[in-house]
Amino acid sequence: MEKFKRHLVTAALPYANGPVHIGHLAGNFLPADIYARYLRANKKDVKFICGTDEHGVPITIRAMKEGVTPQDIVDKYHHIINESLKEMGISFDIFSRTSNQVHHETSQAFFKKLYDNHLFEEKESEQYFDEEKQTFLADRYITGTCPKCANPNAYGDQCEKCGSALSPDELINPKSTLSSSIPQKKVTKHWYLPLQNYEAWLKQWILEDHKEWKNNVYGQCKSWLDNGLQSRAMTRDSTWGVKVPLPDADGKVLYVWFDAPIGYISATKELTAQWSDYWCKDDTQLVHFLGKDNIVFHCIIFPAMLKAHGGFVLPDNVPANEFLNLEGEKVSTSRNWAVWVDEYVKDFPDMQDALRYVLCANAPENKDNDFTWKDFQERVNSELVAILGNFVNRTFVLVHKLCKGKVPPFHLAKKDATDDALFEKIKSTKQNIASSIETYKFREALFSVIDLAREGNKYLQEKEPWKKGDDQESIDNSLHMCLQLCANLAIYMNPFLPFTAQKLCRLMKVVDRMLDWENGGSLKLLNTGYPMQAPELLFKKIEDEDIIRQVEKLHQAAKPYIGETEKNNEQVIIHPIKPEITFEDFDKIDLRVGKIVHAEKVEKADKLLKLTIDLGNEQRTVVSGIAMHYTPDEIIGLQVSVVANLAPRKMRGIESKGMILMAEDEKGKLIFINPHGEAMNGSMVK
Ligand code: MF3
Ligand code: ZN
Repeated sequence: MEKFKRHLVTAALPYANGPVHIGHLAGNFLPADIYARYLRANKKDVKFICGTDEHGVPITIRAMKEGVTPQDIVDKYHHIINESLKEMGISFDIFSRTSNQVHHETSQAFFKKLYDNHLFEEKESEQYFDEEKQTFLADRYITGTCPKCANPNAYGDQCEKCGSALSPDELINPKSTLSSSIPQKKVTKHWYLPLQNYEAWLKQWILEDHKEWKNNVYGQCKSWLDNGLQSRAMTRDSTWGVKVPLPDADGKVLYVWFDAPIGYISATKELTAQWSDYWCKDDTQLVHFLGKDNIVFHCIIFPAMLKAHGGFVLPDNVPANEFLNLEGEKVSTSRNWAVWVDEYVKDFPDMQDALRYVLCANAPENKDNDFTWKDFQERVNSELVAILGNFVNRTFVLVHKLCKGKVPPFHLAKKDATDDALFEKIKSTKQNIASSIETYKFREALFSVIDLAREGNKYLQEKEPWKKGDDQESIDNSLHMCLQLCANLAIYMNPFLPFTAQKLCRLMKVVDRMLDWENGGSLKLLNTGYPMQAPELLFKKIEDEDIIRQVEKLHQAAKPYIGETEKNNEQVIIHPIKPEITFEDFDKIDLRVGKIVHAEKVEKADKLLKLTIDLGNEQRTVVSGIAMHYTPDEIIGLQVSVVANLAPRKMRGIESKGMILMAEDEKGKLIFINPHGEAMNGSMVK
């Protein structure tokens, strides 16, 4: 840390084609923010850089779908993303956009320099072209069957099923995503960066000189480098993006992964005239925060670009996170399976720190992790409320009750080993948090904060000032210690829970400057006799209704997702699983095996059959909507599963008592769920 004079902290630029979700927050923005806040609290010279990534295929596709221009899309989402991250307390020094003039100029100049230094290979190749839409198809504009795993929905750049990186040429039965037509090959010219020329250097720089990088990051880099690097096109045929700054390059733009990381540089330029101090001096620490899908771009491609250009610092670390799943399933923006940050801040006003807390405590630092609303509730209630909030609240209540609401004096003569132990803990916690944050172990750091609050509760329990009667000196000492601990907690929690740290400052009537890191570990933060504000709860408990509502909302908003049939890989819609029910809920349903002993068509109703079902000790009538799929004759004698205690319903004048369980195949045909082998009529299905 000391070896750096300046720090550049970046969070991967989110695509401006939709709002950001809590996975982005946990993987990227929050750790970056914690790190930046920690550095600022240490009075370091830090610039925290981000903005929206406004080029690339997903944006044009979204625009096409919504029938608007790409510019409309990026304007809308830049605004939404910016607002929601601000609300969450993500403290960027600048949140820029790659559509800005300065960015276009900066990335064009970058490209031009590489071009002038003959660092690109200029290659003509045949690429897929959509005649109908008159456009070349790169990356996600083209789908087809994955040559590695036979997934029929692989993209031109990647198969999301098996994770292979692909090129459009490898796809079997390629199809245009724009028109569904079969694309034709057409010759086009592009500029390639020969990454293989940087391979030896990258191996040295990452595999030898940065052994301290996180395992997940180091491992991914090693595997890329071991597999050998190849030339990669740095331009695309498109009308949306940064124009290739060469004559005769009409219809060509910079590859979005070429221009976007340069966005970090252009945003810094926009922020400060001293931008080159940050980007070009060796004593700058550059740290990139991002999710695992961005590792190769930040560890291999962008560094190779920086190296090719020359004169720029390289990242000192790239502490990438893995993915955060949601309620046991992968977050999917296309399925709308996500918790959107802009919605969270509306649904939980003034509860930013609760989410910051849970996302940090549960961050996918080393492996994929799962966010569930139940876990959110549990962590907030049993950790934030019951440990941290409770300690501060007890302290304030007792100070008002037993010390007239003022910081009581500390009587040195009465100091004991318990006081000393607490002081030691306050000091050691500071070191622990610092070294955890400096090695990007934010969960560990956060747990140290909670741990210290837990010590505070234990200390109070041991001292029991409420039982000390007229031994005012003993009361004074313990509550003096507790108040000083509250002040230290405010300092320590500040990078993680900035809203709460501010609130604590207000309760203690101290200025924000108290939160400077150097003040941590002291027992002199609050002066004797100083009046405290009346107690106020730091955190709100999360009620069952709150999370039930969220889980329901999630399921209601989720779109069915596309799966494949086992037989021939046809695309089918698979509906998302409904919200969890308890065993008791399930147990209310009485499922039985019954035999269809009679069946007939219902008059004037194409779809309905009237069935008589033998349930062992009774026969009953069930009207079922299967007439389009079965004739009475083919089903008489069949055993089926019946919901036996469903309230009766009249259909076409016939009272139907129960319902038959059916599955629906990919063509919409209904299929009986019947016992495999003969079961007794009336036997329970459990
Ligand atoms: N927009 C990309 C994503 O969401 C990240 C771009 S990061 C940058 O995956 F470095 F290119 F800016
Ligand atoms: Zn595949």
